[in-house]
Amino acid sequence: MQNIIDIHAHILPGLDDGSSNWEETETLLEMAWGQGIRHIIATPHFSKRTDRREQEGLWDKMASIRKREKHGMSFSLGQEILYFEELPDYLEKGWALSLAGSRYVLVEFSPAAAFSSMLRAVRQLAGSGYLPVLAHVERYRCLHEKEHLEELIEGGAYAQMNYRSLEGSVVSSRTRWCRRQVLAGNIHFLGTDTHHADYRTPRIEKAAAWLVRHAGKERAEQLVCGNPGHILADRVLARQ
Ligand SMILES: [Fe+2]
Repeated sequence: MQNIIDIHAHILPGLDDGSSNWEETETLLEMAWGQGIRHIIATPHFSKRTDRREQEGLWDKMASIRKREKHGMSFSLGQEILYFEELPDYLEKGWALSLAGSRYVLVEFSPAAAFSSMLRAVRQLAGSGYLPVLAHVERYRCLHEKEHLEELIEGGAYAQMNYRSLEGSVVSSRTRWCRRQVLAGNIHFLGTDTHHADYRTPRIEKAAAWLVRHAGKERAEQLVCGNPGHILADRVLARQ
């Protein structure tokens, strides 16, 4: 597949547990290019405890990575935000960043988060005019226990899943859950969650092959390109 838009990647070096330096970032960008990725929203981690001085470095690094825009690869900025109650206020003030300046906010929770807390957070963000996107939705244990994901979507959430969660030669119950959610239409976005050149890489070919085979080419293209295009255009994506 081509013209893939990646909405979740830790490619800015030295900010979090993602890329360690510019050399590694270059390698990651080359790998992403080879996978058909043509736009990346850089999403370094942010939490209430993130040092504001790091934020200043964020814009400098973003300017540097944009200098690498060549052969059609482009970039925008966002954050993967560990949810905290004052988040709407932080977004309003520009202390925390939405995805590519849109109303979509990539938000993560502890894997052990209670379903009620997640639902409250989703409703709060939606009620504040934002479009919350649950980062790597497969990671939250409460969503595996019951068919809770639909309730979060009804509450105003979008769901992002990591590509690699669709892979697996030995098919685990978690992989089965992930594939079922995609086929049920509960997943709106896929992301690489790229961290390093040798671990959590931008490789998506196996997941993309599974998608095309099982969900069909049109649905696959919608997930990897069409839906994330709504984020870049700040258009509201219809939830199924
Ligand atoms: Fe991440």
